[in-house]
Amino acid sequence: MIKGKRIKFAPLDRKHIDIFLKWFNDPEITQYLLMYKPLTRDWEEEWFDVLKHKEDMVHFSIFLLDQEDPEKIIGNCAIHNIDSKNRACTCGITIGEKNYQNQGYGTEAMEMLVEYGFNTLNMNRIELSVWDFNTRAYNSYQKVGFVEEGRKRQARYHNGKYYDEVIMAILREDWEKKTNE
Ligand SMILES: CC(C)(COP(=O)(O)OP(=O)(O)OC[C@H]1O[C@@H](n2cnc3c(N)ncnc32)[C@H](O)[C@@H]1OP(=O)(O)O)[C@@H](O)C(=O)NCCC(=O)NCCS
Repeated sequence: MIKGKRIKFAPLDRKHIDIFLKWFNDPEITQYLLMYKPLTRDWEEEWFDVLKHKEDMVHFSIFLLDQEDPEKIIGNCAIHNIDSKNRACTCGITIGEKNYQNQGYGTEAMEMLVEYGFNTLNMNRIELSVWDFNTRAYNSYQKVGFVEEGRKRQARYHNGKYYDEVIMAILREDWEKKTNE
């Protein structure tokens, strides 16, 4: 269990599959993600089976540190593509409970995920992609210390238009500088 100020991370649990199906079948959420096909319970269960054999990724569910509702799950986040030679990885996050978006939880979770990436996994570089129109996510990542490195032009099709995919990353040296400020 990893604890922050207002949230904690815990391993993914199959008992939350119904909640995951709700989040990841909601176009308001998936418009910002890679996934776009309807997600079935079968696929989600298969994914859980595959997950336990994957050495190059770490997934967490995000819970509120709330005395009244300690089981309140609000999202998931993950580190993927762990490259042990180059000490690099990618990461992603979803605050799936829409009532809990825009309250700083996503930024806090990303700060915790980045700390885990550097301090526990000994990464040197953590990268992510964000679609150009996802200003909220972009702002949140900038606050954590991610820097825009480049754009894949018109890489994402959404609602009849093409958008850039923005590549952002944080290096260990950026993060150490920021945490010592
Ligand atoms: C992106 C996400 C993780 C951000 O987490 P969050 O808890 O909602 O966001 P936070 O409150 O931590 O921070 C968002 C920042 O963007 C700002 N913001 C919110 N809505 C915004 C909008 N529509 N446009 C621009 N900025 C916005 C907020 O004001 C906040 O900045 P501030 O603290 O300086 O005011 C979350 O909204 C989410 O999961 N969204 C759906 C899925 C998704 O986009 N995942 C990421 C894919 S790259």
